Amino acid sequence: MSDQKFLSFPKDFTWGVATSSYQIEGAWSEDGRGLSIWDTFSRTPGKTYKGENGDTAADHYHRWKDDIEIMKSLGLQAYRFSIAWPRIQPIGKGEPNQAGLDFYDRLVDALLEAGIEPFPTLYHWDLPQALQDEGGWENRETASYFADYVSIVAKKLGDRVSKWITHNEPWVMAMLGHLFGQHAPGMQDPYAAGKAVHYLLLSHGYAVDALREDSQPGAQIGITLNLSPVYPYSGSNEDLLAAERLDTMLNKIFLDPLICGLYPENMSSMFAAFLPEILPGDMEIIARPIDFLGVNYYNRTVAQYNPDFPVVQAEPVNPEGNEYSQMWEIYPEGLFDLLERIHKDYHPETIYVTENGICVPDGVDFDNRVRDYRRIDYLQSHIAQVHRTIQAGIPIKGYMVWSLLDNFEWAYGYQMRFGLVYVDFDNQKRIIKDSGTWYGKVIENNGVSVAEK
Ligand code: FCB
Repeated sequence: MSDQKFLSFPKDFTWGVATSSYQIEGAWSEDGRGLSIWDTFSRTPGKTYKGENGDTAADHYHRWKDDIEIMKSLGLQAYRFSIAWPRIQPIGKGEPNQAGLDFYDRLVDALLEAGIEPFPTLYHWDLPQALQDEGGWENRETASYFADYVSIVAKKLGDRVSKWITHNEPWVMAMLGHLFGQHAPGMQDPYAAGKAVHYLLLSHGYAVDALREDSQPGAQIGITLNLSPVYPYSGSNEDLLAAERLDTMLNKIFLDPLICGLYPENMSSMFAAFLPEILPGDMEIIARPIDFLGVNYYNRTVAQYNPDFPVVQAEPVNPEGNEYSQMWEIYPEGLFDLLERIHKDYHPETIYVTENGICVPDGVDFDNRVRDYRRIDYLQSHIAQVHRTIQAGIPIKGYMVWSLLDNFEWAYGYQMRFGLVYVDFDNQKRIIKDSGTWYGKVIENNGVSVAEK
């Protein structure tokens, strides 16, 4: 056996988990909740695996107390959840729905009582369907409606919540939802995607202003992006340039406007033509100072030149040699490379890893245990990279596992299990997986043991 060494984290480091409303809550028609674009999309034949949807999901809307008990038993320090806009404003505008606000109010109180910091995300893709009917993220007005909604939530929870995330992965919303059609609202139109990019960014800026106004002074505000370091497939000049273009379209397209107030220069030859008119002042609003950047990391991207690939002439390929999960290549070093690059090019004051995790086909053993060693390996190797990043002087203040519970994995339905806690979707029974117990120990020891190299 190899020797072990212990990687110890700073005292004020925060260990958490993340979830999102549509993926876990269920109770789709209860207490005045309006329809979201995911209710519509998942009911459209052929859009999700086996036609599955979030009607019941992990039934968290009814089981939230038990779920907080589980979090408490694991010693979690922060819980990143999302607020469902259609519970707060069933048609996306106008008077708030009291029952919806009360749900999150109780959740926040119970978390605080359990010693767990609430870390809400205001938008994790469940746009009220009524706003989609008016154009959704293709409509500039949606950005203003978002600000109104954010202000309602901030007035209700802002006395107790001190960390806010405006959006989760606007890239996915804009591109998978409007260009590739794999997510709600299921469009395949580059102009729709261009509008979505700009109005999502604008809505973030408006939300920052609303939160500064209506939340407690000193509240920390950020946004979460899905980012992936891009490596060229070979050393050829064509592949190097392909990697650069893909990096622009995956990473810089959101980082540059948010942090520098400009769309990336080399976007002009690729995607800029699809953007809507940018009004005076838009870029300043988009680049409102934030307190932290949330980074979701799952895998790297390897780019190969392909002249037939639309827009970027670069194709993401799956290299051989590493392990794969059910969805992606496993490449822990990518997390270090990514965080180092963000620090170097954008130097945000604080970074949180707001999602990191893996789906593997978990099963329940005879003795009711879920021995998900591959998840433990994945988390351990990625946490080690976070440690390496902190050692390099980069301000990473927390790490959150995706996800607390097995849940509705969007177009993949329930076949992809990401949880630290197994959910039997027939009876909603929860079993803490071995990875959950393991993560609890990481938190308790404020660090991980890894094999000495
Ligand atoms: C991220 C999403 C999250 C979940 C994980 C696996 O892109 O934010 O909702 O689907 O991927």
